[in-house]
Amino acid sequence: MSLRQFIKMAPTNAVVDVPGTIRPEHEIAAFVRRTCDMQGPILRFNVEGDYRVNHIVGGVYASRYNIRRALSPHYDETYCQGGDLRAVQRFSECNQVTASDKLEDYINVVDKAPCQDRVIYNPDLTKELPICTHNSQDAGPFITAGVQVVKWIDGKTHGLGIHRMHQKSTNTLGCLAPPNRRIGYPHYEASKRGRGVQMAVLIGASPEVVLASQSKIGSDAEKYIVASKLKGEKLDMVKCKTSDILVPADTEIVLECLSVPNSIHNDTPFAEYPGTYSFRSNAFVVRVEAITRRHKAMYQTILTGRLPQEDSNLCAIPYAAEVYETAKKLVPNITDIAAFIGNNVFDTIICIKKDSNAQVQNLMHALIGNKYLKSITIMDDDLQATEEDWRFAFNTRYQPNRDTIISGDALGASLDPSSPLFQSTSKIAMDFTRPLAVKDADNAATVKRHARAETVPYSINNEWHIIR
Ligand SMILES: Cc1cc2nc3c(=O)[nH]c(=O)nc-3n(C[C@H](O)[C@H](O)[C@H](O)COP(=O)(O)O)c2cc1C
Repeated sequence: MSLRQFIKMAPTNAVVDVPGTIRPEHEIAAFVRRTCDMQGPILRFNVEGDYRVNHIVGGVYASRYNIRRALSPHYDETYCQGGDLRAVQRFSECNQVTASDKLEDYINVVDKAPCQDRVIYNPDLTKELPICTHNSQDAGPFITAGVQVVKWIDGKTHGLGIHRMHQKSTNTLGCLAPPNRRIGYPHYEASKRGRGVQMAVLIGASPEVVLASQSKIGSDAEKYIVASKLKGEKLDMVKCKTSDILVPADTEIVLECLSVPNSIHNDTPFAEYPGTYSFRSNAFVVRVEAITRRHKAMYQTILTGRLPQEDSNLCAIPYAAEVYETAKKLVPNITDIAAFIGNNVFDTIICIKKDSNAQVQNLMHALIGNKYLKSITIMDDDLQATEEDWRFAFNTRYQPNRDTIISGDALGASLDPSSPLFQSTSKIAMDFTRPLAVKDADNAATVKRHARAETVPYSINNEWHIIR
């Protein structure tokens, strides 16, 4: 479903039209900050200023409820109850996509699409879009809800990701997509040959496309297929006006861009997901060649920075799905998983019904190896993966010297200011489960296994050594 339908289908009081006109510089973000803090409604604004697009939507992903709703089949309310387990399981199911899955089986290519109701070539961004400035020290206005689409180096697969875009001039933007990302890599490879790459930026894409962009499938697999599976139907797609990149027909606004080879743009400071600012980054530059949009398009903005915020909410379930998939191979019975405590880049709680005490050790060792996690807690199935139950189990079932594994410096989240080196961190795994009672039979077996090996007592006279 489109973002419009998602908003339209929201329950009463889950969408609020903010009265008056609000400025894109800091004011919109202050409202979104409030709705994130209260896990509150989606907010729609009329913008102060002379922009062709003068409606903004913010806080679409401010609440866990909306993330779960976006991940439920046909936005079924039952997925929104309780914890995140069902949403994580569903994302994990839809995320099973490999290079052998063909995009054409999951899309319809259409000639005419709502996202191309209006087409503006060589646009002036300052006149077209109300790009927002969010946190107090941010370097300026950033597009934070843009899903970039770039063809992978095979020239066929569409890579999707979300990468912040700093407004640099009337027709250029910085794009923070490092070479290890599927959006960055093709640009840096093309730069070596003095060429740029074509890019589409989807603003106000459907929730399925936005969530699919956070998947961690291989770079030769199509994230659009993940989106189609989440949607439960084929995606209607249309070719861009200036390239052969396919974009979802129901997107609110599409920027058609060309990256500038070997360009470097410092877009800091910018408030990031750990809740701190980053002060150094190398973005590359893209030139906006055209903007296409729906009639009465909504510009969407996403809040990053201090928790709770939309950025972490969006990453949480796709990242938790990765942890879930690793855990599932070792423990068949996972009863809960928390995708929102901290921001899931750093910490996860898993509840399991364990078969043996040793099983938890295997699980801790396997999960401590996850690239993003900094801490993992394993709890029993009588508890839920909530902060409250975490605290209870910490107080009553955990002895740090007995139940903890601490790793040395391993690969970790790139923006942790406490890291000794870039992208490295020590990690901790904690076993909050109660030891399984040792059964009588096990006790007996243990006594037996510790028995000293002896020959049968036999009386031998002192002359034995001269027998021969
Ligand atoms: C709102 C939001 C903003 C993000 N901004 C950035 C960014 O500026 N740079 C970046 O590298 N990743 C950013 N991410 C994370 C990437 O989009 C995410 O890791 C994605 O999975 C990358 O895809 P890839 O690993 O397949 O390349 C952001 C995520 C969200 C939800």
